[in-house]
Amino acid sequence: MVPLRLTDRPDWRYLLHEFELLYRHGSAGGSKAIRTHRKRVRDTLSAVIDANPEIVFSEPEQKPVTAHLGRAFDLAARNGLYGISRALERLSPQLTWQYGYKSVPKALARKYAFCDILGPGGPVKSERLTLGFVLFAPNTVYPQHSHQDIEESYISVSGAWSENEQAVYAPGSLILNRPGEEHRITTGEFDPCLLAYAWIGPGERLAEPGMKFSKVRKRVERGI
Ligand SMILES: [Fe+2]
Repeated sequence: MVPLRLTDRPDWRYLLHEFELLYRHGSAGGSKAIRTHRKRVRDTLSAVIDANPEIVFSEPEQKPVTAHLGRAFDLAARNGLYGISRALERLSPQLTWQYGYKSVPKALARKYAFCDILGPGGPVKSERLTLGFVLFAPNTVYPQHSHQDIEESYISVSGAWSENEQAVYAPGSLILNRPGEEHRITTGEFDPCLLAYAWIGPGERLAEPGMKFSKVRKRVERGI
């Protein structure tokens, strides 16, 4: 069977283009580390797109938190992140929302899920970069964790969130978590929060992130 390629699915190509714009046009706020990260993500993404990678779909899947997805899209329609939000909304029926945990903490299972767009596990295949979205319900606490060898950034598409209780971040804000840096996320009272994420690091680590929550010391297969 002939493998499915990115050019066979223009809507997925458009979403990746929106990701590229997100990492091209936003400000680095004067931070050399963030400027370098943004460049690494968009250069890697450009190379991946140029290679016309294979697309391998999993079964579409929803989680309880995806009941908040429509509201997240509505909020994005009011801000400058509408382009990426709309491109994702068009792909909604095809998305595979997941937890990544061996056993999901009960409270978190109702309030959180993520979907990869590009990465070692697909749908768009890449060994060098992982891109996706994480959705949080209002009033979520995502426990403290870190990522070994992986440099991670979040950009808010809609909703407000805080990391390590240090500031409130609005749509368009970027946070860089360098390898090993501990972070804990909380979201606002009334609205969901949709974050785009990028992970960059060694291919074998992207394929098996093996992260764990710092406080409960519980190993998980994958977490955002
Ligand atoms: Fe993280």
